[in-house]
Amino acid sequence: MRIGIIVHSHTGNTLQAAEELLEELRSRGHEPQLIPLQVPEDYKPGGGDVELTAMPDISDCEALVLGAPVHAFSLSAVMNRYLSRVDDLAGRPVAALITQHLPYAWLGGNRATRQLRKACTDKGGDFLGGAVINWSRSGRADHIKTAVQGLADRF
Ligand SMILES: Cc1cc2nc3c(=O)[nH]c(=O)nc-3n(C[C@H](O)[C@H](O)[C@H](O)COP(=O)(O)O)c2cc1C
Repeated sequence: MRIGIIVHSHTGNTLQAAEELLEELRSRGHEPQLIPLQVPEDYKPGGGDVELTAMPDISDCEALVLGAPVHAFSLSAVMNRYLSRVDDLAGRPVAALITQHLPYAWLGGNRATRQLRKACTDKGGDFLGGAVINWSRSGRADHIKTAVQGLADRF
């Protein structure tokens, strides 16, 4: 399956997890593609509305993974903006890859996943579920591996 992994990552955590997912999907015979969202150079998280400098072309993607951090107990404004602009999710399977600093998903990760799910289904996407990676949790490498495998199992 051709899977676009669309990522917003400000400090690199979500990107790192997305790169591991890319390798996992490849090892399972999929054709994944990592697509970072582009924001203005002076973008600062938590600064309110943000505009993307480009919208990725996903016309070739049969399915998507949307990766983003939690900001202020919510989905990052960049991913929110992407979801408000994207118009071609109809019928596409979509999974979520969320990272956050705090050790429990109820401290923002679950809410961000719900926000992503709603925005995705509002655009006609078929939400497959998601994984929350808690960056400050002990045993992070195994935590990421489990999350990545769980996501890959959905395709
Ligand atoms: C402005 C801002 C707000 C944040 N708010 C939260 C939060 O509410 N809960 C949390 O667990 N982590 C929070 N974080 C931490 C990030 O979610 C976490 O470090 C994430 O893995 C960063 O991903 P990235 O490196 O891909 O940008 C916040 C970070 C920033 C910069």
